Amino acid sequence: MSHPADFNDRMLSLGLARVSEAAAIACARLIGRGDEKAADQAAVDAMRTQLNKLDIKGVVVIGEGERDEAPMLYIGEEVGTGDGPAVDIALDPLEGTTLTAKDMPNALAVIAMGPRGSMLHAPDVYMDKLAIGPGFRRGVVTLDMSPSERVSALAAAKGCSTQDITVCVLERPRHEAMIAEIRATGAAIRLITDGDVAGVMHCADPILTGIDMYMGAGGAPEGVLAAAALKCMGGQMFGKLLFRNDDEKGRARKAGITNFDRVYTRDDLVTGDVIFAATGVTDGSLLPGIKREVGYVTAETILMRSKTGSVRRMSYRNPMP
Ligand code: FBP
Repeated sequence: MSHPADFNDRMLSLGLARVSEAAAIACARLIGRGDEKAADQAAVDAMRTQLNKLDIKGVVVIGEGERDEAPMLYIGEEVGTGDGPAVDIALDPLEGTTLTAKDMPNALAVIAMGPRGSMLHAPDVYMDKLAIGPGFRRGVVTLDMSPSERVSALAAAKGCSTQDITVCVLERPRHEAMIAEIRATGAAIRLITDGDVAGVMHCADPILTGIDMYMGAGGAPEGVLAAAALKCMGGQMFGKLLFRNDDEKGRARKAGITNFDRVYTRDDLVTGDVIFAATGVTDGSLLPGIKREVGYVTAETILMRSKTGSVRRMSYRNPMP
C-alpha cells in the first residue's frame, strides 16, 4: 500500500492534467489577439491556482524565471497544499507565447512532476539539443557529430535515404549554417518559429508528425521539459548548456552546475520517474488546440507516465469560465 508521502504517480497524474488544462483554457480568449503578455499571464495565474490545489509539497525547479524577475511560479517557489509527497515541478504555463498571440501551430501548456531531486535545475541559458524517437540503438546520433553526419547515421539506422529524413529546427539566424548543411544532405527541414518542447516531442511519433530528428539551440529549461516528455514517450535526447557570458555561467553555478561542458542525456536531465501533461493551446501536430463554441470550451491533453510508458489522450469540455 502506498504511503501519502510516496510519489504516487498514478494518482497524481490526473491532477496534473487538470493543471495543464486550466492553463490552456485560460488562454482561450487570448488566442490570436496579438498580446503575448496577457496570454502568458492568464496561463500562469490559472496554472498556479490549480497547482496549489494538489496535495503535494512541490518546489518549482523549472519555472517562469528567477524570483526577482517572475512574481509567480518562480524557481524555488513552493506549490501545492504542503500535504503529500515532496516533488519537483518543471513547468511552462504557455510554451509559445508568440504562437498563441498569432494563432500559429503548436503552442502548449506544459508541466512535469517527479520526486524531489529528479530534474536538472537548468539555468535560463541556451541548450544545444538533439533528439530522435524510440527504436534506435543508443548513441546512433550524438552531439559530437556534425549535422550532416547525424542525418546520414539516422538514415542508415532507419534503412532509408537521407532524403527520407525530416529534421525539425527553430528558425533563427544562429541556425543558418546548420540548416544549409542539413539541406545539402537532401533531408527536409520543418522550420518552427517557436516551441521547441513540441519540436522535440514530435520525434517520438514520426508517423503522426512527419519529424525524425530535432536539433539546434533553444532554452535550457525547455530542454528539461522536453526530456521529461521523451522519457515517457520513448526516444533519445542529448543537451549541452551554452554560455554566452560570465553572467550565464554564474546562473549555472547558482543552480549547482560545475561542469560547463557536460553533455546531458535524457536520463541525466530527468533522473527519476516523471509524469508529464501537455494541453494544446493552438492546433498542432501532436494535439488539437482549444476549441470554443458558444458557452463552452474544449481542451485536449496528453498525459504520460515514464514508469509505465503510458500515454493517455483526454478531451475535456466545460462551460466557458
Ligand atoms: P516563449 O514561449 O517563452 O515565447 O518561448 C518559446 C521558445 O521558442 C522556446 O520553445 C525555445 O526554447 C526558446 O523560445 C528559444 O529562444 P529564442 O527565441 O531566444 O531563440
